[in-house]
Amino acid sequence: MENRTQPGAIKSKVRGFFGAISISISIIWVSSAQEKQNNSISLKQAYHADFLIGTALNAAQIEEKDSRAEQLISQQFNAITSENILKAVIVHPQWDRYNFTLGDKYVDYGERHHMFIVGHTLIWHRQLPGFVHRIRTKDSLNLFMKTHINAVAGRYKGRINGWDVLNEALNEDGTYRNSVFYRILGFDYIPYAFKLAELAAPGAELYYNDYNIEQPAKRAGAITLIKKIQETGARIDGVGIQGHWHVGKVPFKDIEESILQFAALGIKVMVTELDIEVLPRNSSEADVNQRMRSTPDTNPYTKRLPDSVQQQLASDYENLFKLFLKHRDKLSRVTFWGVNDGQSWLNNWPIMGRTNYPLIFDRQYKPKPAYDKIMSLKAQTN
Ligand code: GLA
Repeated sequence: MENRTQPGAIKSKVRGFFGAISISISIIWVSSAQEKQNNSISLKQAYHADFLIGTALNAAQIEEKDSRAEQLISQQFNAITSENILKAVIVHPQWDRYNFTLGDKYVDYGERHHMFIVGHTLIWHRQLPGFVHRIRTKDSLNLFMKTHINAVAGRYKGRINGWDVLNEALNEDGTYRNSVFYRILGFDYIPYAFKLAELAAPGAELYYNDYNIEQPAKRAGAITLIKKIQETGARIDGVGIQGHWHVGKVPFKDIEESILQFAALGIKVMVTELDIEVLPRNSSEADVNQRMRSTPDTNPYTKRLPDSVQQQLASDYENLFKLFLKHRDKLSRVTFWGVNDGQSWLNNWPIMGRTNYPLIFDRQYKPKPAYDKIMSLKAQTN
């Protein structure tokens, strides 16, 4: 057979050649588009089947003053917590005066974005209005609890999906904190708060929320507290491990143990105020009243976070989310305490005016290496 290529055959070979190139170009194009699309999946989408991904909103964000924040919040998160505006000092400043302006906007915001809305918090010994500190009798304090919970939880009945009914009622050793509530009413104030919330906001999930309750002694106290609430017949649906941790010192074992032990009580477990502090601290307590003296060493990263710390932070977040994924059947929500580094409370606590980097979005709203690590965990499992 003659080995001659006919002109028609040449044309078809040429066509075939360019066809092949164009197919491979389109394969490359499709796969890079795919990659881009995968990369642009947001946090809430990546973790959709696992647990809710929340953030705490401050007043400016609720009022939608910053469009970059606004865009990031609706893209990345499907749950919100009110950082401050539903605390008693703001929402109920005097016996007979309430201020629901920001609370209403907050709930409205969550509904517009189809988010799970958390109310924080009904009964807490901090950020209380002055008149509560002046109460001396059981009757008056019971009356405050009743009117406060009825008014605040009642106003958002059917709209706020979960309430931190009680915040930080325990000491580090697991005993009851000697708050104004405990001093005057004893343990009874605790189930009372849950009963009032259940009546005022039927349908809302009801939580106990605290820091360091992953630590063994405080955890044991929290378990006793939850069991005692359950024994009174009051309803408690979940427990929030706040999750204010420190870079390089995240207590993974204690966290895992706590998730298991809290879940064994038959309630939901949540991480509710997640941030990982990178600056020096003099204690592991997250009590908002704590203060620390400012010295030249206490604010070391004013210009930028060194790479070694950035990597450690990313690895801590990665290991945390690995753990959360392992227990996704017990965790219902993971909420970051703030949207980006610039607005974290940790810039002003326990020392005012430091430059902290505890979250997964930087001051320019850009994802940090920690974000990429958290996302890549899902790319591996998908
Ligand atoms: C505690 C409270 C929160 C908040 C933080 C600091 O964890 O539960 O409401 O005040 O402290 O922002």
